Amino acid sequence: MSQLDGRVALVTGASRGIGRAVALELARRGAAVAMAARSTAELQATAAQIEAQGRRALALAADLDEAQAAEALVRQTREQLGPISILVNNAAIVGPFGATWEVDREEWERALRVNLVAPFRLARLVIPEMLRTGWGRIINVSSGAARNPMERAGAYSVSKAGLDMLTRQLGIELADSGVTAVSVYPGVVDTAMQTAIRSQPPEVIGPAMAQRFHDYHQRGLLQLPERPARLIAALAGDAGARFNGQIVDIRSPEGEALLAEG
Ligand SMILES: NC(=O)c1ccc[n+]([C@@H]2O[C@H](COP(=O)([O-])OP(=O)(O)OC[C@H]3O[C@@H](n4cnc5c(N)ncnc54)[C@H](OP(=O)(O)O)[C@@H]3O)[C@@H](O)[C@H]2O)c1
Repeated sequence: MSQLDGRVALVTGASRGIGRAVALELARRGAAVAMAARSTAELQATAAQIEAQGRRALALAADLDEAQAAEALVRQTREQLGPISILVNNAAIVGPFGATWEVDREEWERALRVNLVAPFRLARLVIPEMLRTGWGRIINVSSGAARNPMERAGAYSVSKAGLDMLTRQLGIELADSGVTAVSVYPGVVDTAMQTAIRSQPPEVIGPAMAQRFHDYHQRGLLQLPERPARLIAALAGDAGARFNGQIVDIRSPEGEALLAEG
């Protein structure tokens, strides 16, 4: 029997990158997986891959900027797979790029809705059921930008700092309940998000940030998405109980130890 047999997971932002790798890894460990994003064809391809391995999967088209998205996702997952016991808040956007006083206000606020408000909405919808069963995992995919502001990507830094505080807040409120919340810093990962940052001109994101992200690429520092996915899947299992309310950086000794555990 696999560690996550019988669990139902909802993973946002599963159409590519880290979210897709997380969905595949959770399924490999036995979970039934609902996947949400706007790119339906990509989700369906991953769902077919999971089903071919004998697990249940669900591809759900959703724009997390929309007010009704969270409720629709939780309802559809419950109806088709069962009550959600693992929520991975992974979807995020990194823009708008530019000085805080110059970027488009609506784009800034949209980033906060997708990166922070949607995780809050999803968490509050799934937690009551998790508490009733006495078991649940909320995993918020955050970023080192929560602690060290990413220059010219202020909405991203602010949203991730808020996401970490949401984790800490939930950690206190959920203590000793069997339901845990954790933030994960996945490190520097080879995804479309990294490509999007590298494609910004230095005059938009500033020469220091442009140089740093080109260096990650040129020096071969980008990890494959499967590596943070293994860390997130470990936290979705028994190990999650040890990290309630905490922030787990993949580059920390705790992160390394969790990866070594498998
Ligand atoms: N890559 C890195 O180096 C890195 C570093 C630190 C933290 N992270 C974090 O890791 C997570 C995954 O990042 P990634 O690098 O895998 O990014 P990515 O390749 O850009 O993927 C982002 C995912 O979010 C989804 N998404 C974006 N806007 C959405 C919306 N409005 N509604 C629904 N889904 C939406 C995208 O799907 P659609 O476009 O199909 O909707 C996609 O599946 C993010 O939380 C990111 O902040 C990444």
